[in-house]
Amino acid sequence: MKYLCPSCRSPLELSGDRLVCSPCGGGHASLIDGMIEFDGCTDKESFFEKQAIERLDRFYADYDADKFQEVLKRVHLWQMDWANKRVGIARKFWWEPHIGPIRDKAVLEIGCGVNYIVPSFLLNGNRVFAFDICKGSVDFLRKILGRIGAPTERLELAVADATRLELGEKFDIVDINNVLHHIDDRPAVFERVHRHLKDDGKLIIVEPNYYYPPRWMIETDSLDPFNFVKDYFVRNDLIEKGEKAIIFPRMRRQLLDAGFKIDATFKDPNFLGYFTQYWIREDTGLARAIFKLDEMLFRHILPAAVAPFQYIIASKA
Ligand SMILES: C[S@@+](CC[C@H](N)C(=O)[O-])C[C@H]1O[C@@H](n2cnc3c(N)ncnc32)[C@H](O)[C@@H]1O
Ligand SMILES: [Zn+2]
Repeated sequence: MKYLCPSCRSPLELSGDRLVCSPCGGGHASLIDGMIEFDGCTDKESFFEKQAIERLDRFYADYDADKFQEVLKRVHLWQMDWANKRVGIARKFWWEPHIGPIRDKAVLEIGCGVNYIVPSFLLNGNRVFAFDICKGSVDFLRKILGRIGAPTERLELAVADATRLELGEKFDIVDINNVLHHIDDRPAVFERVHRHLKDDGKLIIVEPNYYYPPRWMIETDSLDPFNFVKDYFVRNDLIEKGEKAIIFPRMRRQLLDAGFKIDATFKDPNFLGYFTQYWIREDTGLARAIFKLDEMLFRHILPAAVAPFQYIIASKA
């Protein structure tokens, strides 16, 4: 991968184990064990270290190639595996009805974390550049890829910040899955995505919606200091301190301002299901009834404004 200087966008050159910019006269990243790690990529709350390593490791304990194939077939929230469900994935391959399967493409995966996406992109013959600001997540992803035997010849991983990273390459697909709600400066991300997307490329995004009522209750500051549910979620690393989901009309405007057009946007239909999945046992009559209620009733009457997640497919305007 050709990395560019985050300040002046000149190509960075490797000098020893440092990526340096000649015009600026300084180093920006280090090559450590074969992976580029940009300076200043720290996770100040250690949230993802705890999330990814302590909790996810348990869910991935019995994974191998067969188990991963079995898990890939579980696409909807009501039938999904815990490893993906617990990182907030409500529907796998949600883009396929709109843009078809992603195969043999150049893909940029922003804030990759650890889930089904990078391994399945690799299994589908794509060339993937995936990065995350959290080194712990990237290392853990590498470990899981090894465990499930995903092909990694066409993968490059890095530790980098989506608001600063500049690459000397363009991609067919840029995927952002549940990442933007952890980034305050979203316009900086969109400006960079626009530079890194081919003219006929697609940007695909899914993010949690701030106004989904159970989420609003947990994330709002307006009930402090008596918001005991919020305190519980933060104390148990279920949300990051200060975490705020996405206000979609605002984010759509930011996308337009960055030079994108929205090809499609739609809501996740699991209104009751997403809220109840954590405390109702799987595969019980009650769980099935709740997801049925969403499918038959709530998805038709409740607006996108209160959906648990929203999906966006965008391209260059
Ligand atoms: C909720 S996790 C989602 C991970 C993964 N995309 C998924 O859906 O499972 C959010 C991810 O965004 C990463 N992240 C947060 N801020 C970032 C930034 N500025 N640049 C790159 N990654 C970032 C976090 O480290 C974390 O892995
Ligand atoms: Zn420079």
